[in-house]
Amino acid sequence: MIAANFHHVTRRYGIGETAVAAVSDVSADIVSGRFTVLSGPSGSGKTTMLNLLGAIDHPTSGSVVVAGQRLETLRGNALSDFRARHIGFVFQAFNLIPVLSAYENVEYPLTLLGVSKERRHADVLDLLDAVGVAQHAHRKPGELSGGQQQRVAIARALASRPALVLADEPTANLDSATGAAIIALMREIQRSRATSFVFSSHDPQLLESADDVIHIRDGRVVSVERNVSPEVVL
Ligand SMILES: Nc1ncnc2c1ncn2[C@@H]1O[C@H](COP(=O)(O)OP(=O)(O)OP(=O)(O)O)[C@@H](O)[C@H]1O
Ligand SMILES: [Mg+2]
Repeated sequence: MIAANFHHVTRRYGIGETAVAAVSDVSADIVSGRFTVLSGPSGSGKTTMLNLLGAIDHPTSGSVVVAGQRLETLRGNALSDFRARHIGFVFQAFNLIPVLSAYENVEYPLTLLGVSKERRHADVLDLLDAVGVAQHAHRKPGELSGGQQQRVAIARALASRPALVLADEPTANLDSATGAAIIALMREIQRSRATSFVFSSHDPQLLESADDVIHIRDGRVVSVERNVSPEVVL
């Protein structure tokens, strides 16, 4: 099954002579239930591809499909609603709301979706527990370490039970031990919730644990490695 797909996608920034194609005629499939890493040097187009998948940005030409929906056909409320229900985003700088506690940050997307207070309470506690920061639920982001903030950001991205979780360099701001713990955590969540993850990264630890690696250079896909893990070999 295909979780998402790029079909001849180009994203150009600027106009005329100074235009830059951040992504050039990219076609690629993101396979459901797998851990996909977008790998490439700085400026190769990783963040642009994630933003296109998350419908935060739109192609100049071509089509991006997520969960069977062509994103360019959605506008306004339909687009924000689709994003809230189907996509979880973990930003590089975590983007937690500083005045809200860890609990409230994870609760917020559920409030937006109109989930009842009782279910929000149960879900938020479950998520904070799953990412190992339940004991810090009342703390604000400024009172948490980088790794703890990253865990809260992951919990928040998972709150709506999205089919697709996107993360821009999720381990870049973490020391290697914390990075390894975060990778293991996301792996565990991916297995238990059948979620598809797409990351951008040049972290060798992350590349090693990926199912699929899409290598990009200068906005183009140069190769795709699909690793077959021993347990899925028939
Ligand atoms: N808003 C923008 N306006 C103009 N050019 C942009 C914009 N965003 C990105 N670019 C250009 O598009 C190209 C791809 O950028 P992108 O941020 O996707 O790269 P990246 O692979 O995420 O890099 P990094 O590893 O440094 O985060 C770069 O050449 C960048 O300068
Ligand atoms: Mg980037």
